[in-house]
Amino acid sequence: MHHAEFRDRRLVEVYDAECPWGPDDDAFLAIVDGTPMARVLDLGCGTGRLTLAMARAGHRVTGVDPARASLDAARRKPGAEHVTWIEGTATSLPDAAFEVAVMTSHVAQFFVEDGEWTSTLSDLHRAIVPGGRLAFETRDPRDRRWERWNPVDSRRVVALPDGRVVTAWTEVTDLAGQSVTLVHHYVFPDGEELRSTATMRFRTEAEVRATLGASGVSVDRIFGGWCREAVGDGDGELLVIARR
Ligand SMILES: C[S@@+](CC[C@H](N)C(=O)[O-])C[C@H]1O[C@@H](n2cnc3c(N)ncnc32)[C@H](O)[C@@H]1O
Repeated sequence: MHHAEFRDRRLVEVYDAECPWGPDDDAFLAIVDGTPMARVLDLGCGTGRLTLAMARAGHRVTGVDPARASLDAARRKPGAEHVTWIEGTATSLPDAAFEVAVMTSHVAQFFVEDGEWTSTLSDLHRAIVPGGRLAFETRDPRDRRWERWNPVDSRRVVALPDGRVVTAWTEVTDLAGQSVTLVHHYVFPDGEELRSTATMRFRTEAEVRATLGASGVSVDRIFGGWCREAVGDGDGELLVIARR
């Protein structure tokens, strides 16, 4: 199933188990904390790991995601009552309602077609107050991350909270221009295998700058990693901090 890792309850549990808090979350939380007590939008909030942490830090947080199973998992977590959860996409956003917006864990790469990306940026521009900030990351295509998405290098064992162990791996099934189509495999202890397919777009730094500029959002900084390294010196990321 397409995006099953966010839409299938069993795979959402695996996603949560294999995506604990990390240096990316530290980096985004520090960016958001730059505006104390902010109204924050987390677009593509998934199961709410960072969303809930931002609420705990005193921000007024709205988490938006089209995947109901992921939102259901987020809503079951402690502190979920302090977040406004919206099942939807950027088109569901209110006008001029947020001082800060984030898209984390490569949500930006899920907007594969140019039209989807530019309309999302224009919805974000509409939803952020003048002077408000937008932060997100996208993988730098020069890092060629997709070359590590193969059954050997990507093989991992994921322990679920109930003690079951899931074996997972990822493989690329198509490379077309800047778009990479992949399939995640998950084998459960009873032998059942579930699969999740996705296509991810790798935009260059120049494309990111041009598309943000065209939507009226100006880039403050682009870093190459979670410790604010220069592009090319960090974790193979383009960590973008922009301003309406
Ligand atoms: C890799 S997950 C990241 C989730 C969360 N931000 C995190 O840090 O764990 C990508 C998320 O983007 C969401 N997503 C996919 N298409 C989207 C869209 N058009 N608008 C908003 N979110 C979308 C998925 O449902 C999924 O929850």
